[in-house]
Amino acid sequence: MLPEKHIFVCIANRPPMAGDSCGAAGSREILERLQMQIMEKGLETKARVNGCTCIGPCEQGVNMIVYPEGVFYTRVTPDDVGEIVDEHLVAGRPVERLIYQAPAPQ
Ligand code: FES
Repeated sequence: MLPEKHIFVCIANRPPMAGDSCGAAGSREILERLQMQIMEKGLETKARVNGCTCIGPCEQGVNMIVYPEGVFYTRVTPDDVGEIVDEHLVAGRPVERLIYQAPAPQ
């Protein structure tokens, strides 16, 4: 059975000379916390988490996308994981303060 929601967390590590990356910003910890909380809260049939490669913008990592909504979160920290699980995955309310903001056109 397919889960209701699928979360992709960028775990890419770019070479230091290539700039920032989600891996260097601690995305593995976020991925593991998400997996742990999903298990602890019995959400395994509702949500699945996978690591993925670069989804850009790397300098704003840790980045993740929640489908099917396509909500793109940036600058996610380990402290944000509980709120994402409770608000977005359980209550269905995306965490507005973490949603990607496109730069204003110049
Ligand atoms: S390294 Fe994560 S979005 Fe590029």
